[in-house]
Amino acid sequence: MRKLILIFLAGVLLLPYCRADEGMWIPMLLKKYNIEDMQAKGFKLTAEDVYHINQASLKDAVVGLGREGQPFHHFCTGNLVSEEGLLITNHHCAFGMIQAHSSLEHNYLKDGFWAQNKNEELVNPGITASILVRMEDVTDQVNAVLKEGMTEAERKKALEEVCLRLEQKAVAGTDLSADVKPYFNGNQFFMSVYRIYKDVRLVGAPPSAIGKFGGDTDNWMWPRHTGDFSVLRIYAGTNNEPAEYSVQNKPYRPAAFFKVSARGIEEGDFTMVFGYPGTTVEYLPSDAISQLIEVENPHKIAIRTAILGIMNAAMDADEALRIKYAAKAAGVANAWKKWQGETKGLKRFKTVENKQELEKKFENWAQGKEKYAGLLEEYRKLYQQRKELKLASVYQTEAGKKGAEIISFAPSLYTEILGYEQAEDKAAYKTYLRKKAEDFFKDYDAGVDRAILAEMLRLYNTNLPENWIPAKVAEASKASDYHEYAEKLFQRSLCGDPAKVYNFIEKLNKKSIEKIKKDPAYQLANSIAEFNKTRIRPELSKIERELTRLDRLWLAGLMEMQPEKTFYADANSTLRVAYGTIGGYSPRDAVEYLYYTTLEGIIEKDDPSIYDYNIPQKLRDLYAAKDFGPYTQNGKVPVCFIASNHTTGGNSGSCVLNAEGYLIGLNFDRAWDGVMSDMQYDPEICRNIAVDIRYVLFIMDKLAGAKHLMEEMEIVW
Ligand code: ARG
Ligand code: ASP
Repeated sequence: MRKLILIFLAGVLLLPYCRADEGMWIPMLLKKYNIEDMQAKGFKLTAEDVYHINQASLKDAVVGLGREGQPFHHFCTGNLVSEEGLLITNHHCAFGMIQAHSSLEHNYLKDGFWAQNKNEELVNPGITASILVRMEDVTDQVNAVLKEGMTEAERKKALEEVCLRLEQKAVAGTDLSADVKPYFNGNQFFMSVYRIYKDVRLVGAPPSAIGKFGGDTDNWMWPRHTGDFSVLRIYAGTNNEPAEYSVQNKPYRPAAFFKVSARGIEEGDFTMVFGYPGTTVEYLPSDAISQLIEVENPHKIAIRTAILGIMNAAMDADEALRIKYAAKAAGVANAWKKWQGETKGLKRFKTVENKQELEKKFENWAQGKEKYAGLLEEYRKLYQQRKELKLASVYQTEAGKKGAEIISFAPSLYTEILGYEQAEDKAAYKTYLRKKAEDFFKDYDAGVDRAILAEMLRLYNTNLPENWIPAKVAEASKASDYHEYAEKLFQRSLCGDPAKVYNFIEKLNKKSIEKIKKDPAYQLANSIAEFNKTRIRPELSKIERELTRLDRLWLAGLMEMQPEKTFYADANSTLRVAYGTIGGYSPRDAVEYLYYTTLEGIIEKDDPSIYDYNIPQKLRDLYAAKDFGPYTQNGKVPVCFIASNHTTGGNSGSCVLNAEGYLIGLNFDRAWDGVMSDMQYDPEICRNIAVDIRYVLFIMDKLAGAKHLMEEMEIVW
């Protein structure tokens, strides 16, 4: 009995300190903070197996995918799976690359693509692959130049200088790149040193009907049946060093690559996700969350509902419009759906109330501590001041810049024409301009855009207080009808009409710039941009700078108040480890979700008349013939599974590893009921979704006939 009580007490005492499965941990600190907990949950490796700087470790097999010019802003993660630089990631991560190589004759989006040998692999200019070499805590060096009493602007400048100095010093004379980032709301700083490869080729992708199965209907949803994977390869110079594309380049030889486990998974199994989560905001105060729920999300959702309504109707009515708008609609729908799940989750899990409770505790604790005096009061005041500005800024971005495309196209044309005046070779510049315009109009329909413009002007004028509406937007409200107004604008503008634009480019001269300045689309765009620059930005930036200061203080205070708690830093596009267990969840009363899906579910959903559910005939045939190969569990082909790993955008493509550190799946999404995990994680309901690696192998083997790639991998049967 005494023993039982002790165990019970230990449990209660530990409770506030570790909330199971929450957190995105810094690999170099696993040894200090997490490895014991990980091992207690079943992990069989050591901290050094995961992260080591002098010998090969798992981190050497994780790749941050980025773009030239912003290589540290990782849009997805990839995983090395062979000693010849074979890299596996999501289909949606490589979507742009697959699309870029597609044409009507070679429609790789529709039909898939499989290089039969290395010569057939396709070059993707501008894609970068970063591999972390080491991390370093540089908090002391950074803090040495930050003085008490600096204004936020002074602090920012000092920070930029010292970070640049540290980065340059760290990589001088090497082929490495360094990036210092703030952690814990700017209370700590770590430097990541990478080797960044620049020759990343497309090796294989399944048809979209597999890689994007379920489309936006199933996006963010569980149960899920998407085969969201694609295969790339990193190439390096002759000495395995980063090199620009060249036919002489050789497949990159990694220090480590993941072994693939075909042994299967069980509920309760340990899993770990190793990758590059983008952004989370776990330490926001309650005022920020209420503002998000009450102001930002509802308006952003309403604006995108209107845009999607128009795009979807057009796509349903006309196949050519579907092709033009599929990728755009997917982009608009992705965040639109996430925001709805987020609001729902934040309300359901009472995030505002939870935060208020914590704030109360903090206020009691902080009494008499001068450093924290009035902190929460200040938060309240600033968020109050921010409210209308933020709303105006939501409209400027979502209904303005990202609304009708004519609003972003007009100013870009203006900028390009400024370039014409400087250009030495005028003819070449015209060709370049024409090409750019053609690229834009290829996926553009003036009818759709006009309808979007009318709707955006209506929402702008209906939902914003008068003093936040830019003059040219307000002008539209004086017309008898927004559609008529939009129609007139399109008639008078040259920007929505390819023939007029091409003709304009053909006849470019000194007066062209004046013509653009008078164009009604440009004037509308300019009015929105100017309003932002003069009326919204200055004030909003001032408030945001103050909020940054408070955020720093607030988290420092929380950490001081709970010295026994292990905090994790918000995601910031740097390499992190999340770990949790495989398991289903209950989305609502009386409903229980299993932790995995199978090919049966794909066949259930299969419907040639529904775009998102129309599978390739070959998959139907494989199913009918029960030609599953060894890729089954209990006689069925597994497709996706869920686990409680704490993940976010950017984690797409990340490896999901088992207790041995073998690859068992690729992370690609989260379940809708728990997407509030960016602000508050809850182990009951937050689930990451992965495609089971056995489904990947099944598709590669049976559907794609890409056995030669599987032979490169080390598969543990
Ligand atoms: N929801 C996932 C993520 O945020 C997958 C998105 C793929 N895009 C889509 N519209 N289906 O990236
Ligand atoms: N789908 C996301 C990504 O592309 C992952 C997520 O938000 O859970 O990174």
